[in-house]
Formats: sequence, C-alpha cells, structure tokens
Amino acid sequence: MKFDLTSIDEIIKESKNVSYNFSDDTLKAVNLEYSKSLMDESYYKILTATARLYPDAQFLELGTNTGASAVAYLYGKPNVPIYTYDVIKDSRWFIHDGLSDKCIFKQESATDCKYDLKKIDIIFLDMNHDAVMEDKAMLNLHNQGLLKGCLVILDDIHINSDMDNWWNNLALGQIEKVDITRAGHASGTGILIFE
Ligand SMILES: C[S@@+](CC[C@H](N)C(=O)[O-])C[C@H]1O[C@@H](n2cnc3c(N)ncnc32)[C@H](O)[C@@H]1O
Repeated sequence: MKFDLTSIDEIIKESKNVSYNFSDDTLKAVNLEYSKSLMDESYYKILTATARLYPDAQFLELGTNTGASAVAYLYGKPNVPIYTYDVIKDSRWFIHDGLSDKCIFKQESATDCKYDLKKIDIIFLDMNHDAVMEDKAMLNLHNQGLLKGCLVILDDIHINSDMDNWWNNLALGQIEKVDITRAGHASGTGILIFE
C-alpha cells in the first residue's frame, strides 16, 4: 500500500461523507460519560473514512480505552481484523453491534511489546499524551521495522506543550507530516507517512 499527500486529502474528503447509525447500546458502551454526539467528532470520522478508502489495510491501534475509536474504524468495514493494544482492558470495549469479532485486543504496553504482525499499513496512536510514551511507542514500532510504508494517525498532538514539542520535533524518517487538526480533533490530529 502506498500513501502520499493525495491520500490525506482523500481521507479528509471522505470523512465529510461519514454519518453513523449506531445502536444506543453501542453509544452507551463506548462513551458512558459523554453524550451521543461524541462519535460525530470528526477525528472518529477520519478513522471511518480511512477504513473505507483502504479496506484491505492492516490496522493497528495503540490506546483502546472504551473502544470508541476501534468501533469508528470498524464502521468503515475493513476486510481484515484490526489489532488494538491497551495496558488496561476496559469492561465496555467489546460490546459493539457485533463488530468486536473483528477486533483483536491485546493487553500489552505499546512502549515495549513485541508485535505478532509482520506488516502494518495504518496506525492510530492515541495514548496518554505525555510525549514520552508516544515517543517510546513510535520507537518500538520503528525498531521492529513496522513503520515502513505506514500511514500513522496521531490524536491530541496539541493537547499540551509536551505533545506540541513532540509533534514539532518528530524525526523518525517520515516523508510527510501533516497537521489535519482543522478536519480532526480540536486538541490536534496529525498524519505521518513513512517511506
Ligand atoms: C485517550 S485514551 C484512548 C481513546 C481511544 N483511542 C478513543 O479514541 O476512543 C488513552 C488510552 O491509552 C492507554 N495506554 C496508556 N499507556 C499505554 C501503553 N503503554 N500501551 C498501550 N496503551 C496505553 C490508556 O490505558 C488509555 O485507555
């Protein structure tokens, strides 16, 4: 799979066409503490759009939490199961309109786990946003040769000054680094493309 700047434009364009029709149970399960409208935030739509545009891509998520982002991605109906990693297994994460059978959850730390996957195409990184953890997770992927050819979506790149600095100084050999906050999350969404 080959990504370039056109891929990012297409993802943003497609995200404008996404609308959700989740059951109340799913909406409650993924975000008990927020309102239904959360799934309408555009960074979830970026994930759904990406899944739609690249249905055969191998997707890896770092930071599952309640599973809202995994559900958003799966809503785009990819043909291959997705992998999602979190150190905590949230009891709500798997109850989603039969989508969870396509979701392989690993309770492991993205900072030092050994991935079973030989090839990944799309990564969504959304962890604790202290920049140290994000850096370690990216380095772990890099050291296992898994960033090659990947498109990486990053959430909350401007949520604090540590994340701002991390985003501004990223140097892992990416060929594109695009701030898509205007089409994503108000706290910052970015996309990286690796050679
Ligand atoms: C902001 S939440 C993820 C939200 C989710 N992606 C969404 O949009 O619905 C961050 C998650 O990262 C997880 N996390 C923290 N450290 C981690 C690590 N070392 N490896 C994997 N996940 C981690 C936390 O447990 C938490 O559930």
